[in-house]
Amino acid sequence: MVLVFEPAFVQAPEHRPKPIVSEASKIPVIDLAPIYLLDGRLESPLPPELEDVVAQVEAACREWGFFQVINHGVPPGVVERAWAAARGFFALPPEERRRVRRDEANPLGYFEAENTKNVRDWKEVFDMVVYEPAFIPSMSADGEDADEPIQLRNRWPQSPPGFREALEEYAKATEVLAFKLLELIALTLNLPAKRLNGFFKNQTTFMRLNYYPPCPSPDLALGVGRHKDASALTILTQDDVGGLDVKRQSDGEWVRVKPIPDSFIINVGDIVQVWSNDKYESAEHRVSVNTTKERFSIPFFFNPAHYVMVKPLDELLDENNVAKYEEFNWGEFFMARSNSNFKKSDVENIQIYHFKKSN
Ligand code: OGA
Ligand code: NI
Repeated sequence: MVLVFEPAFVQAPEHRPKPIVSEASKIPVIDLAPIYLLDGRLESPLPPELEDVVAQVEAACREWGFFQVINHGVPPGVVERAWAAARGFFALPPEERRRVRRDEANPLGYFEAENTKNVRDWKEVFDMVVYEPAFIPSMSADGEDADEPIQLRNRWPQSPPGFREALEEYAKATEVLAFKLLELIALTLNLPAKRLNGFFKNQTTFMRLNYYPPCPSPDLALGVGRHKDASALTILTQDDVGGLDVKRQSDGEWVRVKPIPDSFIINVGDIVQVWSNDKYESAEHRVSVNTTKERFSIPFFFNPAHYVMVKPLDELLDENNVAKYEEFNWGEFFMARSNSNFKKSDVENIQIYHFKKSN
């Protein structure tokens, strides 16, 4: 066993999971079949079937910041091979997993000691970037960014066989879906479908394998503490165990996302919140664990290039809707957030509300 329960995992009483998590009001499920039936051409005027999909995405982003998609176009065999890779990797002996452990110089690979908001998560992960090398700003010891971006490369384990190929294939197929969703979101904002695509040239997208072992104290600890994803969008597949809880925007209740076979869970990240000038919110979520079942999930964090300056989109602004955020550099924001997950610190990690204007 890699994880041994200790005080570092204990959540403050107000953040511990309650025994009953509401499933009453369901996260929306959206059928994406129309976008593929119509060759995926998202040009106006849109046919009525597509107008309907856009309307559903708009409502889901506005009311929940979360939704599930079916008929999403990622082939089932691709998803199955990614699952086999994830299960195979976490079934390796702990010393094998540690051979690709992340360190200060390279944050990619295996890790079992991540914190969310300074409390340890009951999980093990494997991280990889989708495009190599990924360029990110380098930080000097005093936290100032240095001139040259650093290049990150993936760490691939020797086994299980086919691990790298399976995950690269999955990443490629999921990226196609990510662009489709990005285009749908642009349409929901009354923008041309491809308005946001350019930000993803030289993207810093990364993918994670999450493994949540059974936990002796699921009432005290969380698999991932409450957080918002820094990404533009996150595309996640989970197994049938369940444990992802979303904070419902209408009343702040935690709602469990019901596993649906062959679906993906989509959530709006911080970047879309800023681009949309708070029309859409990056919803808070967390992972509950249990005493008996291990759980796996694979999030794909769709992130722009490191040099992208994130700010509310000009076309959405006027005298009645003034920019609510100062612009910030994506790469620096991303690095500051990842560093805080790596090391415990006394200060809160960086959040988009730190860039909120006081108008
Ligand atoms: C994450 C996350 C949810 C899950 O890794 O950011 O929210 O269900 N994971 O594992
Ligand atoms: Ni998350």
